[in-house]
Amino acid sequence: MHANRPDGHPGDSGPDLGTRLRRALTAALKAKDKDAVSALRSALSAIGNAEAADPGEPGPGRPAVTGSDYVAGAVPFAGAGTGPGAAEAERRHLTEADVAAIVRAEAAEREAAAGQYERAGHAGQAAGLRHGTQALLAALDAGGAEGSAEVTEPEFLRDTRSSYDAIAVSYAERFAGVEVAKPLDRAVLDAFAEYARGAGELPVADIGCGPGRVTAYLTGRGVTAFGIDLSPGMIEVARASHPGLRFEVGSMLALDLPDDSAGGVLAWYSTIHVPDEQLPRALAEFRRVLVPGGHLLLAFQAGDEPLHRTEAMGQAISLVFRRRRPERVAELLGQAGLPVRASVLRAPDDDGGFAEVTPQAFVLARKPS
Ligand SMILES: C[S@@+](CC[C@H](N)C(=O)[O-])C[C@H]1O[C@@H](n2cnc3c(N)ncnc32)[C@H](O)[C@@H]1O
Repeated sequence: MHANRPDGHPGDSGPDLGTRLRRALTAALKAKDKDAVSALRSALSAIGNAEAADPGEPGPGRPAVTGSDYVAGAVPFAGAGTGPGAAEAERRHLTEADVAAIVRAEAAEREAAAGQYERAGHAGQAAGLRHGTQALLAALDAGGAEGSAEVTEPEFLRDTRSSYDAIAVSYAERFAGVEVAKPLDRAVLDAFAEYARGAGELPVADIGCGPGRVTAYLTGRGVTAFGIDLSPGMIEVARASHPGLRFEVGSMLALDLPDDSAGGVLAWYSTIHVPDEQLPRALAEFRRVLVPGGHLLLAFQAGDEPLHRTEAMGQAISLVFRRRRPERVAELLGQAGLPVRASVLRAPDDDGGFAEVTPQAFVLARKPS
């Protein structure tokens, strides 16, 4: 790929877009983020096709173009350069603007397809496509950014991770000795644990486990459970606090778990940090990893307005707490193929020494057998 700085070496304005896309692809492959991988591969292949087009030989579907007249949507020469002799053909020079136009066209195509999926009621597929689009837009936006291994990662994930890393130890101390403080919360978790025990040998995945207090609570109820969390700081604390249990770093938006491998999935106050447009993607992941017949339990603050906090436990953070209406969450769960079995709304209370100001929602859904 030849853009303004073909070697991609850091210059005044950082690596070129092609280099950023390739680095983002490497990071997405490592993170097993299949939607980002698909979007980035597709954009890189469109760029390769455009470069392979022979500008001197216009023909059907292959208009004569000069270095800078490539326009979005003009990818009709997809496939050019794959025939005999293509390797020897002179490659066309693309400017940085050409490459950006191709990436924008790819993003626009994916957005259009996401809209079609959404209208057809396939929210999970739409969210997957949009997640891929974000990887493309992040590479575009990151012009000049160094160390772009993180360019596929949306800002909300970076903020959430670093915020929880900052407060991990204090958060764990706050809950020390109290796994689940409130009787009604325990009742909901106990019902979930009973269903999970009935699902057989497969373990429960506690996703967004934080310091592992609820993972430990479930273990105490005879459930085999392990935890996954975005924050390495939280995982470190969880491992130290519960040495007999398994905890791994990971994101609910791209779980590193096989299909049908979890006897149950718990997301206890963790989807609260996922933006609305990404929630269907998380739910699709929960469904994918759940065994048929397995249960999903979500806990979250009920309400409408998100809360953005910039300080917690004496640390500077940037965390958005998204309150949601249980009816809306139930609707999304239904669209994700996880029909709801029960929805509990608990009024705020100060039981167990933890005072709340918002009602708390617990929604139990099940993947059909
Ligand atoms: C409010 S804490 C709840 C922790 C734990 N479930 C508990 O009740 O103690 C939210 C947790 O969700 C994690 N989290 C947020 N977004 C996540 C994501 N996309 N994937 C995995 N974990 C996430 C955070 O790192 C944090 O540890």
